[in-house]
Amino acid sequence: MEHLAVLVLLCLPVCSAYRLNGAVSKDSDTDFVKQYLEKYYKLAKETKPFVRRRDHGPVVEKIREMQKFLGLEVTGKLDTDTLEMMRKPRCGVPDVGDFTTFPGMPKWRKTHLTYRIINYTLDLPRDAVDSAIEKALSLWQEVTPLTFSRADEGEADIKISFAVRDHGDFSPFDGPGNVLGHAYRPGPGIYGNVHFDDDELWVENQSGSPPVSPGGPVVPTESVTSGPGTPAACDPALSFDAVSTLRGEILFFKDRYFWCRSHWSLEPEFHLISTFWPSLPSDLDAAYEVTSKDTLFVFKGNQFWAVRGTEVVAGYPKGIHTLGFPATVGKIDAAFSDKEKKKTYFFVGDKYWRFDENSQSMEQGFPRLTADDFPGVVGVDAVFQHFGFFYFFRGPLQFAFDPNARMITHTLKSNSWLYC
Ligand SMILES: *[C@@H]1O[C@H](CO)[C@@H](O)[C@H](O)[C@H]1NC(C)=O
Ligand SMILES: *[C@@H]1O[C@H](CO)[C@@H](O)[C@H](O)[C@H]1NC(C)=O
Repeated sequence: MEHLAVLVLLCLPVCSAYRLNGAVSKDSDTDFVKQYLEKYYKLAKETKPFVRRRDHGPVVEKIREMQKFLGLEVTGKLDTDTLEMMRKPRCGVPDVGDFTTFPGMPKWRKTHLTYRIINYTLDLPRDAVDSAIEKALSLWQEVTPLTFSRADEGEADIKISFAVRDHGDFSPFDGPGNVLGHAYRPGPGIYGNVHFDDDELWVENQSGSPPVSPGGPVVPTESVTSGPGTPAACDPALSFDAVSTLRGEILFFKDRYFWCRSHWSLEPEFHLISTFWPSLPSDLDAAYEVTSKDTLFVFKGNQFWAVRGTEVVAGYPKGIHTLGFPATVGKIDAAFSDKEKKKTYFFVGDKYWRFDENSQSMEQGFPRLTADDFPGVVGVDAVFQHFGFFYFFRGPLQFAFDPNARMITHTLKSNSWLYC
C-alpha cells in the first residue's frame, strides 16, 4: 500500500512543479459533471442525467460524496464552490474506489527503483522535464525507504511518458484541461508507469494552484514566521512533542506551535496551536487521528482532548484513565491509531498499550515491552503511521518501521518531513 501511494501521488509534486496554462473546456455543465462523477466517483454509467430528481438519486449522492471528500459544504447541489473544484486541473486518479482503498495492498518488493523518461513534451526543454522529475523523486526519497536511479535505456520500474488521447492503456486522456496525468500501481510491465497528458500546455516553474487536495486543509489561516524563541524547522537538533496525520496532512507539534505539511505543497506551514484550537494546551505529549471518526486526539499529562476540524469536542478534556490505563500511568509519550486494524497504540516508557477502537476498550495482555514487538524502538517522543509505515521519533532522529517485516528499515532526521 505504501508504495502504491508513492506512485499514485508521484504525479502531485510534478503537477505542482508545472502548471496547466490552458482554457477550461466549455461542455454543458450537466455532461461535464456526469463525466466527472463517472470518472472519479464511480457513478454508474447508465445513470440518467439528473434532471428530474433534485434531492436524492445517484448523482446527488455522488455530489454529496465528492463534497464530503473535498471538505466542501455537503449540500448535494452543484453550487459554485463545487463546480469550481471540479473544474480545477487534477491528476487522473479516482477519489474513491480502487486507488484510494488499495485492494491487495500492492507494493514494490524492493526499495531501489529505476526510472526512465521514455519521451518528452515539446512544450519544455528536456532538461527542465528531467530536473522536475528528479526533484519529485527526491522528495519521495527523503521521506520513504525508497531510492531512485535513472536508466537511459532498457527496462525500468517506473517508465514516464507524455501521450495524448488514446495511448494504448485503455485509459485515454481527455484533451486540454481536467486530467493532467495518471500513474499505475507498483508491479512489472505497465505497472509503476506514469503518463502525462501532452494535450496540456506544460510550462515551467510557476507557482500555480496545486491539484485538488484529499480532505482539504482544516482551515488556512496566516502562518507565524519563525524568529528568535520559535523553533526552527531545519535546526538539526529539532525534536517533536507529538506528530499526527489530520485529513491527509501531517501535523508536527512543538512547544506552542505546529508545522502542517500537505503532500502536494513544498512549504510546510507553521502555526500557533492556539490559532486553530484556543483551548488546547501547548507542549503536548501525544496526538493521533482516528480517520473513521474524523477526529484528532491530543494528550497532555493525565488529560486528553478530541478535536474535529477547528472544534474541540464537547465533554473534553477527559482523564486518560477513562481509556483504561492503570493509576500508575501519569502521561503518554506517543500514540498512533492504525486505521486498517482499528487499533490505537500508546507508548509509555519502555512499554506500550493497545486500545481496540471497535470495542472502545484497552486490550487484554498489555502493556507489553515495546522492544519485543518493535525491535530497535526504545523511548519514543512521537509516532505516526503513514503509507503503512510507523515513523517513530526520538530526539533528532526518526525510525521508519515496517510492520510486515517487523524491523526498522530506514533512519532519518526527525525534520526530514519539513524538507530540511
Ligand atoms: C511516448 O510514449 C508513449 C508510451 O510508449 C506513447 O504512447 C506516446 O505516443 C509517446 N509520445 C510521443 C509524443 O511520441
Ligand atoms: C525554479 O524555481 C526554483 C525555486 O523557486 C529555482 O531555484 C529554480 O532556479 C527555478 N528554475 C528555473 C529553470 O527557473
